[in-house]
Amino acid sequence: MRPFVFLVASIAALGGLLFGYDTGVISGAILFIAHDFGLSTQLQELTISVVLIGCIAGSSGAGALADRVGRRITLLAAGVIFGIGALGSAVAPSIDVLLVARFVVGTAIGLCSVVAPLYISEVAPADVRGALVSLYQFAITVGILGAYIIDYALAHNEAWRWMLGLAIVPSLVLIAGMLPLPESPRYLFKIGKREEAREELRRIAGGDEIGEEESAILGSLDVQGTGFGVFRTPAVRSALILGVALAMLQQLTGINTVIYYGPHIFLMAGLASNQASILAEVLVGTVNCLATLIAIFFVDRIGRKPLLYAGCTGMFLALSALSIAFAQTHMQGSLASIALVSMMVYVGSFAYSLGPIVWLLISEIFPLQARGLGMSIATLSNWVANLVVSLFFLSLVETLGASLTFSIYAVLCIVTIVVVWRGVPETKREILEKISV
Ligand code: BGC
Repeated sequence: MRPFVFLVASIAALGGLLFGYDTGVISGAILFIAHDFGLSTQLQELTISVVLIGCIAGSSGAGALADRVGRRITLLAAGVIFGIGALGSAVAPSIDVLLVARFVVGTAIGLCSVVAPLYISEVAPADVRGALVSLYQFAITVGILGAYIIDYALAHNEAWRWMLGLAIVPSLVLIAGMLPLPESPRYLFKIGKREEAREELRRIAGGDEIGEEESAILGSLDVQGTGFGVFRTPAVRSALILGVALAMLQQLTGINTVIYYGPHIFLMAGLASNQASILAEVLVGTVNCLATLIAIFFVDRIGRKPLLYAGCTGMFLALSALSIAFAQTHMQGSLASIALVSMMVYVGSFAYSLGPIVWLLISEIFPLQARGLGMSIATLSNWVANLVVSLFFLSLVETLGASLTFSIYAVLCIVTIVVVWRGVPETKREILEKISV
């Protein structure tokens, strides 16, 4: 792979690292925050979910911003906002200030979750685009794991301010890294800076012919309509429906019940102590990270759809096992180990399929004119679905029981397989502008 392209993708992927760290870190910090500020259950829930509300706000404005000021400036802005939010969280004198700071962090995550995969996908050569966008997902998983480990390490000092404040380090690296990086050539074509755009395209192609790609990009600028008007074109509308469906299913199949509530599930399954549950969660985080490598290696070789079929089937089987295990009253002793193995299989299967490939597909299926807005709307739906799942998971377990709750997620895995089979085009190694839904 051309080193320049790899460097560009890695720096943009730092947005993913911040995304992962800042969504993961609160699970360990909340106990101490609740203690310091004397929070009620409602305020604790708000402290956890205010980030997701910020993500919804950030992702809804991200596409318009990225189309207006460019992908690069938007990512730089996200880095600055991250830094301010992290600092504000670390020094917050009251719960009100902390809530505002966490909201600010959320808006930055929202911006990154749209623009980082968008930028990477627009800069990447077609034959490695899958791997490079998967690198972004890998960074998310490293961020989550890093957050678990830091939470674990700082827990005995109850140092929640450090837990939240440390996010400032990657945000500074993101800012410093993005400063010298070029704008996406596709964005430059879109705003009419053709000479600059060609130059960037040549730099990325590293001496390969760019004629075919250039005419595909120019051709895709023909889409009728501006702003939301682009969605009047039937093909663009279909891409939007597919993008929203995939983005929501990525959440509705339940991944964040494990990422945010893992220790809770382990305790429910009978794992002995808080300590053991948190350690088990670190194990799950490690599997999440390592299994993403499978996507990086195979997504451009065997394609998006085979990985999605395999991953969703694995998730379905693991959730079914969890559901059956929780339904048995007489196998209490082995429940904890079944839960641990099932959750590892589940997270591992997600990590090489729905995790990276949903971000990849929603950055691929829209024509250039609709890409910013289309990705924004799909990503916004992802955050809304995330909020719904994480807000209602515990109440769902209370009212329906764990077994039925997991079986709902299992059924949604089957729905996802059907959507992939009927709706998803194979986009492996295809020039972005030649992809159609
Ligand atoms: C999802 C996140 C999730 C993470 C887990 C991402 O692709 O969008 O909601 O927490 O994967 O690794």
